[in-house]
Amino acid sequence: MASDQTARTRLKRPRRLRTSHGMRCMVRETILMPSNLIYPLFVTHRKRGRDPIKSLPGISRLGTNEAVREAEQASRLGIPAVLLFGIPEHKDPEASEACSGQGAVQSAVRALRKALPEMVIITDVCLCSYTDHGHCGLLPDGSDFVLNDETLPVLGRMACSHADAGADIVAPSGMMDGMVLSLRRALDDAGHTYTAIMSYSAKYASAFYGPFRDAAGGAPKSGDRKSHQMDPANGREAEREARLDAAEGSDFLMVKPALAYLDVIRRIKVRIPELPLAAYNVSGEYAMLKAAARAGTIDEREGTLEVLTAIRRAGADLVITYHALDAARWLAEE
Ligand code: PBG
Repeated sequence: MASDQTARTRLKRPRRLRTSHGMRCMVRETILMPSNLIYPLFVTHRKRGRDPIKSLPGISRLGTNEAVREAEQASRLGIPAVLLFGIPEHKDPEASEACSGQGAVQSAVRALRKALPEMVIITDVCLCSYTDHGHCGLLPDGSDFVLNDETLPVLGRMACSHADAGADIVAPSGMMDGMVLSLRRALDDAGHTYTAIMSYSAKYASAFYGPFRDAAGGAPKSGDRKSHQMDPANGREAEREARLDAAEGSDFLMVKPALAYLDVIRRIKVRIPELPLAAYNVSGEYAMLKAAARAGTIDEREGTLEVLTAIRRAGADLVITYHALDAARWLAEE
């Protein structure tokens, strides 16, 4: 029978690797860096101005000049990319402003391209902010069931207008079938063979988009998005969607939202490892953490870095997050 002393020496002690900050740094498995982050910006058609979004504390709708200022800050902090959402001046059933060379996104892209030649500029490609009915595509008369094949050419024109302005990556977020192939063809036909596509491959019909819809004025006037966005109950189907996007030529895959879908992130990373994977830490996730921090129930810095690290640990190469500037500042202090 082993003595107490022997039993103690034989005990496995994982705590040895946690005895100091240095030791913990050496064995850390997941590294979060500013270069993993993508910062979303809401841009208006105005030249200047900053209009705070109530439901997203710290985030504003930005005039072109302010968008450039904000992107410069991101760049100084080591964040390589911004993702632009347009707030149009005019909405109609055909989403005409989405494809206008003078639209909010197109103008912001040109200004950013000029001021920050190294910045990676990503643009959201979806019609929901541009249609007066708030749906992600064209609607047939008297129904909310978004027309799929009829919407694709409009998305193609929208993507080309972003690429014409200087966007590096277009990010189709409408969950239309065949969206990636159709955008690839439209871009190639227009000579934009090096414009990349970051498809929102598995985008769920989620309650966590609430603050975004307030920010972009893009809530559907009637009905919902369940006929194109995915059912939160499904994981296998996310893999199918991601495989289709990969086969159609998407250069990145994406899972959205992130926090309630960490298993989906992991699944896609493991099953389709050849493409870089982004996860979207969406507006509702941001707003929840901000609310808890304001109420004093969660430490904002610790909580934010924990959440972003967890999304990376699950398998995301890139995290799209409204916390990007804060997180990059905190990482620089560590
Ligand atoms: C547009 C779009 C949405 C988001 C990104 N692109 C809203 C939606 O699908 O209703 C949500 C982003 C967020 O909540 O931060 N289709």
